[in-house]
Amino acid sequence: MIYQNVHIKSFGCQMNKLDTAMIKAALKKASYQITNDIDSTDIVIFNTCSVREHAEERVFSNLGYIKHLKKSKPGIIVCVIGCMAQRLGEKLLNEPVVDIVCGPAQISQIVSLIQESIEKNKKVLAVTDNIRKENCEINKNLEEFESVFDSDDKQIPSQAFVRAMRGCNNFCSYCIVPYVRGPEISRPPQAIIEQVKRLADEGVKMVTFLGQTVNSYSYQAGEKTYCLADLLEMASEVNGIEWIRFVTNYPSDKYFDQIITAMTNLPKVCNYLHMCAQSGSDRILKAMNRHYTAAEYLGLVDRARDAIDDIAIAGDFIVGFPSETEEDFQQTVELVKKARYKNAFIFKYSPRPQTKSEMKLQDDVPDEIKKRRNIELLAVQNNMSEELSKVFLGKKLTVLVEGLSKKPHLNKSINDDNPQLIARTATDWIVVFNGPASLAGEFATVEITKTSPLTLFGQLCKA
Ligand code: SAH
Ligand code: SF4
Ligand code: F3S
Repeated sequence: MIYQNVHIKSFGCQMNKLDTAMIKAALKKASYQITNDIDSTDIVIFNTCSVREHAEERVFSNLGYIKHLKKSKPGIIVCVIGCMAQRLGEKLLNEPVVDIVCGPAQISQIVSLIQESIEKNKKVLAVTDNIRKENCEINKNLEEFESVFDSDDKQIPSQAFVRAMRGCNNFCSYCIVPYVRGPEISRPPQAIIEQVKRLADEGVKMVTFLGQTVNSYSYQAGEKTYCLADLLEMASEVNGIEWIRFVTNYPSDKYFDQIITAMTNLPKVCNYLHMCAQSGSDRILKAMNRHYTAAEYLGLVDRARDAIDDIAIAGDFIVGFPSETEEDFQQTVELVKKARYKNAFIFKYSPRPQTKSEMKLQDDVPDEIKKRRNIELLAVQNNMSEELSKVFLGKKLTVLVEGLSKKPHLNKSINDDNPQLIARTATDWIVVFNGPASLAGEFATVEITKTSPLTLFGQLCKA
């Protein structure tokens, strides 16, 4: 059998998607071809996530499909990579359908792992033994890999992720990330900015800096300690880059003013702050090992709003954390109302093996209650999004066009053969309008004619 086509699918966060993009670039360089068609592929790669049980279940059900596919094509090579690979290691390799298990710290070896598995006709395991131990070798490999293979795989034209930090040291009691991504490391600013420059040369207009707690970025070089605000300033000086975002922020006073000042003073830095709250109850926040109170969180929100009145704020929440009472939950509802989020990501608590909350606390909130709280909180947020979205009616907004919307044929008006496009404002509002597909990756001006909680609709203004 000749191994040429590779199908790769991401199941996780933006970090995970960035890893996928780099792996695609490495595979292409090694003369493999990337295919969207899983049924005709020779190699399958699942880049997995462990953050909630549901994320892992999705991977297992996809592996179920591969089992069926392998019946007609037994030679297919199946690689499971990413956070779940690191978490389960050998156990995953014991799945009959799996040939390669490769952790997030070993992705630089992916091409050789595939070759080894094919040539020796055997299963291959590559994960980190002691993930919480600083490992210079691993870091060096990842840094080299990152400096060769950039993230821009044109999934969304003109946009790219750039990693600012790896890993996490926060140990929120519910979270698996520190156990699968290892210790927190800030990348050298020079390496980051070189990457931004290369991406700009390739036509990238917007970069998003990534880190689990990106606002805690800190890199010591001689006398100087670089923080995220320094990165934003250096990236602002790169010609061709027009918009800069960073995600996600941990609510903390440290560097907060510098970052908000950078946002105020640097026009390229988007007025968008994704800052996760998780809960509005101080008791639950403490049990989550989050180092702030609801009032402190709202204090940061106020400071950001005072400095930048059109700032869009997004947040993450977990409902049904162990022992969460109706009163705790109502405090979360209050916080959501006060924070005036553009949007919020709400998750039902999912106990993750090895984490503090899983080992020490009972998952005692029944699923129906988690579900109800999730729906209730979403409804509160929806009202807020709707209220905030109305402000845009009749306004002309600058957007960066991502490409065709999911239903490009919809809403065709008379005398307009253009498909429906999807775009975003600097503040991350989704804007849908009709326009030529060639606008993908370009800036455009759109006049907003209709709003809904999550989407603004409008008409393209002629340049
Ligand atoms: N580093 C980011 C979050 C990464 S995980 C931060 O701290 O801001 C993304 C989101 O998944 C988290 O913000 C949290 O809301 C959710 N999450 C993490 N672990 C979870 C769990 N065990 N159950 C449910 N949701 C979880
Ligand atoms: Fe997980 Fe907390 Fe780290 Fe975010 S900050 S990745 S929630 S441990
Ligand atoms: Fe991301 Fe999931 Fe790993 S959220 S860091 S892919 S556990």
